[in-house]
Amino acid sequence: MCGIVGYVGKHKAASILLEGLKRLEYRGYDSAGIAVLQGGRFNVAKKVGRVEALVREAAKFTFTGKTGICHTRWATHGGVTDANAHPHVSSDGKLVLVHNGVIENYVSIKKFLLSKDYTFKSETDTEVLCNLIAYHYAKEPVSDSRSRFFESVRKALLHIEGTYGIAVMCVDFPDEIVAARKGSPLLLGVGDNEFILASDASALVSRTRNVVYLKDGELVHVTKDEFSITTVDQAEVSPVVDQITWSIKDAELNGYAHFMEKEIFEQPAALENAMRGRFSEDGSTAQFGGLNLTAADFRVIDRYCFTSCGTAWHACLVAEHLIERFARIPVEVDYASEFRYRNAPLDRDVLFFVVSQSGETIDTLAALREAKRKGYKVMAICNVVGSTIARESDGGIYQHAGPEIGVASTKAFTSQLLIVAMFALYVARMRDMSYADGASYVQGLRAVPELVRKTLEQAPHIKEIASRYAKYNDFLFLGRLSLFPIALEGALKLKEISYIHAEGYPAAEMKHGPIALINEECPSVFFVPKGDIFNKIVSSMQEIKARKGKIIAIVTEGCELPAGLADDVITIPECHDAALPIISCIPVQLLSYYIAVARGCDVDKPRNLAKSVTVE
Ligand code: M6R
Repeated sequence: MCGIVGYVGKHKAASILLEGLKRLEYRGYDSAGIAVLQGGRFNVAKKVGRVEALVREAAKFTFTGKTGICHTRWATHGGVTDANAHPHVSSDGKLVLVHNGVIENYVSIKKFLLSKDYTFKSETDTEVLCNLIAYHYAKEPVSDSRSRFFESVRKALLHIEGTYGIAVMCVDFPDEIVAARKGSPLLLGVGDNEFILASDASALVSRTRNVVYLKDGELVHVTKDEFSITTVDQAEVSPVVDQITWSIKDAELNGYAHFMEKEIFEQPAALENAMRGRFSEDGSTAQFGGLNLTAADFRVIDRYCFTSCGTAWHACLVAEHLIERFARIPVEVDYASEFRYRNAPLDRDVLFFVVSQSGETIDTLAALREAKRKGYKVMAICNVVGSTIARESDGGIYQHAGPEIGVASTKAFTSQLLIVAMFALYVARMRDMSYADGASYVQGLRAVPELVRKTLEQAPHIKEIASRYAKYNDFLFLGRLSLFPIALEGALKLKEISYIHAEGYPAAEMKHGPIALINEECPSVFFVPKGDIFNKIVSSMQEIKARKGKIIAIVTEGCELPAGLADDVITIPECHDAALPIISCIPVQLLSYYIAVARGCDVDKPRNLAKSVTVE
């Protein structure tokens, strides 16, 4: 939530900052602002709306300075107004700051600062932090020493409760930025005589692939020539410079209308990346390099706990189904936000998994920390390399799906589904799954990218269906067993990008309440795979039809539905049961995407949402 960018270097800062900010817009997009230090003062432009509105506003200024910071906001404290947009300048005019996170104790600090005659123009917690730094700056002995600025930020942060990724400039130190993080992501790009700070790599990858991931409690002091990292407790840190493995092209639309569309069509490649090198030589099981546990360690695990949020939580539900079915080990699934507070009683030999595309979701991170505090090992399934969750876990599996920019998760979700399917195989083969069953499971998963490609060929057909259903305001998604989580996911996709009320249910559960919603205006999307319960699902469809409900059926190729039962049919290719959630998900991704487009919605930036939720 919220994106920040900072620049110190040999070029004019403004255009580099705004370019970076455009790439962070998916993190929050209700207002944006920029501050550039030039001629001994801050030039600040802020505007409600998208970054594009800020770009127009900034065109009215002459930005010549080579040091600057900028911000795109997802409002927490204070409404969406120009005044509440960042950057915030301290009331003495000495400091300017951008912030991603929440200052929880801002009320008491604000009271203190008001008593010291600091004034406030906004309702934000961020302006409080800015003035607190100004207060400490005023208290530092006056000198030209760089440490005066740095120390004022460090000392202010000692009083802060909450989360922050910040970048601060001081009017007396024109070529410097001090930045810090706790609970909100921040990285430093080390370029050719320039440094770029950003909330994530997409904002800086066009200028450098060398990055330092800051850790919680670290501050970085950047000048035009060098940088140094220290903790808030004054310990020196030796920076590790990592390489970003993807390029700016991966974060561009490349001819697609939306990132969501692009990412849906990137799934075959993302799935190939997720499985590359992860099947055993004998082709009967999976293997993972980063779990940091031996087969003997896994043998004693008698329960898995999976926890995460949103779409990633749906991947956990699929994990539960697959691990219990194939490995016969009990799995519990919790919303991360609930797990943290419900103080679950846990057995001894439990292994935790957290699943997070961004690796920065604060609820998931808090659940990870809670499980670790209780002494459990936690594995992470993450897409973003170097993210906080990836770093704080005891081991894990990277998704390698490439950057996912659309707020609605698509390729990251299916790659999570593939990874949990592979993990189920891995533990199943340590228990009772035979070599032959393992080999056929592996073949089933190897076929997935091609089957997804084949399913994507139905896009024109699904688009046509979407054009006829876009007018409805209520939908049910109904699926059983491993497809119940996909029903939930279909409903979530439709809700978040089309603002259509949609609910997911196990198909048979529908008659215990949701069937009351059914009429000609409330269509149902049914998952009807080949298999034991095909006829049971057909019965549920009959119950809907009897009440004049419209039906879109997602059916395995070759399966015959009673004539006239479904109003529209989308076929999926036959596949291994472990691959079924992945293949079944593709039609509902396309359906929700095309419905959102038909309704004229802003697909990549749905209202009220942000890509990574870094506030509780
Ligand atoms: O980055 P994460 O996977 O931890 O994000 C979790 C959810 O916020 C995310 O899946 C959200 O539900 C998506 N917008 C769904 O499309």
